[in-house]
Amino acid sequence: MNILLLGSGGREHALAWKIAQSDKVSHLYIAPGNAGTASLGTNLPIGVSDFAAIRQAALDYNIGMVVVGPEDPLVKGIADYFASNDDVKHIPVIGPGKKGAQLEGSKDFSKQFMARHGIPTARYLSVTGKTVHDAVAFMKELKPPYVLKADGLAAGKGVLIIDDFYEAVSELYAMLEGKFGEASRTVVIEQYLSGIECSVFVLTDGKHYKLLPVAKDYKRVGEGDTGLNTGGMGAVSPVPFADEAFMQQVEKRIIRPTIEGLQQDGIPYKGFIFFGLINVQGEPYVIEYNARMGDPETEVVMPRIQSDIVDLFEGVAEENLDERTLEIDPRCATTVMLVSGGYPEAYEKGKEITGLDRVTDGIAFHAGTAEQDGHVVTAGGRVIALTSYGATKEEALQRSYANAAAVDFEGKYYRRDIGQDL
Ligand code: AMP
Ligand code: GLY
Repeated sequence: MNILLLGSGGREHALAWKIAQSDKVSHLYIAPGNAGTASLGTNLPIGVSDFAAIRQAALDYNIGMVVVGPEDPLVKGIADYFASNDDVKHIPVIGPGKKGAQLEGSKDFSKQFMARHGIPTARYLSVTGKTVHDAVAFMKELKPPYVLKADGLAAGKGVLIIDDFYEAVSELYAMLEGKFGEASRTVVIEQYLSGIECSVFVLTDGKHYKLLPVAKDYKRVGEGDTGLNTGGMGAVSPVPFADEAFMQQVEKRIIRPTIEGLQQDGIPYKGFIFFGLINVQGEPYVIEYNARMGDPETEVVMPRIQSDIVDLFEGVAEENLDERTLEIDPRCATTVMLVSGGYPEAYEKGKEITGLDRVTDGIAFHAGTAEQDGHVVTAGGRVIALTSYGATKEEALQRSYANAAAVDFEGKYYRRDIGQDL
């Protein structure tokens, strides 16, 4: 079977790496891909939200399955688009339809979903310009800091955490007036939860699910979790505090109620669910849902999956995921992200990347790279994720860091403390 994978980041290189290992795959196409995915298949110059071009490519290249990496095409309804066009409706899409993707695409929808199904999460109130007075009263009931979330997708920037009450009120007005465009015309105000976060992933066919390795990512740009939020500076798997007792609670109180809730609400869901969790004194709460895998978590989760991922995807498509096996590598995996100087603010692109041939005991997953005149150059803020295995987290990190030193480009920066808080 030929597979078409949508996306162009480190997550997609890691997915492509795993998909390409399957005996079930004849040829892998990636749209649009990056310099890393080019070594595993054929990159197609098609944007992830250009549905008409994706459909045409699916026909031209005899695609038997589409795997969706990022959230944008999911929230815009790529799965529904395929299902409603006769010439491509036989092609399974790994990723939920528009309705299921609302778990990520609308914070208000996801909070209502959790409330309806008794899933533990922070107290909240959704407000619009018309109900802003209730907001102030609700905020007075809360203790600082105040958590304000744009309802819609805001490229990972739509969450503000503010200590001062008056500043929070003023930011709330700015959001409602369009600080994040249409995405913040509705704002979810939340109780602040204090604890340590982890990322839990399942693959589901809508009825059954497989629990994938748990990971922790490092979102802030600076060491000691300081500075601006980024897409993610590194990740580790497994996560020591996500032990058996904690994960039993997660399955019982969060994962199963979510899968059953989707069924009760009549929402078919075929794809990944990413539970952004926080451990508050041993109790798991949902911070957010995403309708896709995490990045850079995928760069440690895929390497720890030993089974054929395409077999699991077929289980999703055929709704018999319970008949498929998922084996997990007991080793630790870590990844360290090399980023462009200045990221997550302004940075330069087009810098030549050297030393990729010196990566040993690990994998260099390309995040933001491109090929230019026979060289690999930087093409994004997050550039290369260096993943390694180890018998322990420390051993894996030592290898990731040796490779982080070996790969180079002008302005290279990375955090030196990935995994050290665990
Ligand atoms: P989100 O986009 O919802 O994942 O929010 C981004 C980040 O803000 C999360 O990873 C958390 O670190 C933080 N955050 C979001 N909601 C809360 C909350 N209710 N309490 C504490 N921190 C939060
Ligand atoms: N690493 C967090 C995310 O992918 O949203």
